[in-house]
Amino acid sequence: MDSKKYNFETKAIRSQSKQTHNREHSTPLYLTSSFTFENAEQGSAIFGGTEDGNLYSRFSNPNTQEFVDKLCLLENCEAGISTASGMAAVYTSFVALLSQGDHILASRDIFGNASYIITQILPKMGVEYTLVDADDNQAWKEGFRNNTRLVYLETPSNPTLKIADMQYIADLCKQHGVVSIVDNCFATPYLQTPAEFGIDLVIHSATKYIDGQGRVLGGAIVGKKAIVDRCYEFIRRTGACLSPFNAWVLSKSLETLSIRMERHCHNAESIAHWLEDNDKISYVSYPFLESHPQQSLAKKQMRLGGGLVAFEIKGDTQQAMSFINNLNIFSLTANLGDSRSIATHPASTTHSKLNTEEQRKIGITPGYIRLSVGLENIDDLIQDIDHALIKMK
Ligand SMILES: Cc1ncc(COP(=O)(O)O)c(C=O)c1O
Repeated sequence: MDSKKYNFETKAIRSQSKQTHNREHSTPLYLTSSFTFENAEQGSAIFGGTEDGNLYSRFSNPNTQEFVDKLCLLENCEAGISTASGMAAVYTSFVALLSQGDHILASRDIFGNASYIITQILPKMGVEYTLVDADDNQAWKEGFRNNTRLVYLETPSNPTLKIADMQYIADLCKQHGVVSIVDNCFATPYLQTPAEFGIDLVIHSATKYIDGQGRVLGGAIVGKKAIVDRCYEFIRRTGACLSPFNAWVLSKSLETLSIRMERHCHNAESIAHWLEDNDKISYVSYPFLESHPQQSLAKKQMRLGGGLVAFEIKGDTQQAMSFINNLNIFSLTANLGDSRSIATHPASTTHSKLNTEEQRKIGITPGYIRLSVGLENIDDLIQDIDHALIKMK
């Protein structure tokens, strides 16, 4: 599909696999672990790479291919691979691109498990790391070393919703000849396309907004072909590939991403404004609020402010947990990006692997709450939060 000719919504819906002889309107599901050859010569040609074709679903499959092609189109990237989960995408990109003696420069404000890989697993392989605050350009500049090979960040960050300046960081990476990676799971390609700012690779946990209904795990790496190829070599051998069924679900889900993100963002922004006026809340973080220190950068990089809102309750863990326990509509689970609204206490769940000092450094306090705002009626959601704040002990 011509990526320049059509807008986001049309590309998300109209880019799909070629019809088979059955003339199906919706792409079928290819549940097969391997593919047959017409003859021995063709088997040899496909294995040898002189002829294109599917071999084995760990390497490629029509459903995973359709999902990846569509994501590349939406992210404005030339190549991609799908992975079993978001963490498989994070881990694959690190291990495929780093070697013993290398250094990775990453933001401190990232998903707890990504942070665990950088600080606990990579050092066992002889990879050094430096962590900086996502919104501190000077720290990014000073963080590069002679052996830096990768820069990794999330924007908006999880769970503090800080914004990293992608253009500035991508320019630094180019000057140093370093590969830049952005986890775009919070924004999705509907809100921002990191490649447009010069970022080399984009990571997704497709488990979140791309699926959007809390059903399947999945992930992807998209970006510059030469770098994606190195990740593909690693994953086709090590096996953290996406299942055809999950790819089929995710490709269908991309069709409705734009309309879902519009509603997520509208609901989240309304809640953020409402919370700002509540005297039981010490502060609210939402990228498009005037009080957000990087509101103008967020507006430069993002179409809308996103579906997550974070805030601090005046009080400690007991008050935060009491607030969460008094919610009726919001689900109590650690996921995000679902049609159902979710309330999370990062200090005791998603970021509990960090010690108190590490949590404090990135702004996670005992009263800190993250809301993944879903697609329910906004008046019902606000009433639920209001009720839980009133009943909070
Ligand atoms: C920003 C971010 N990246 C990556 C992941 C990992 O994704 P998955 O659960 O699909 O492995 C998560 C999970 O919550 C996340 O929030």
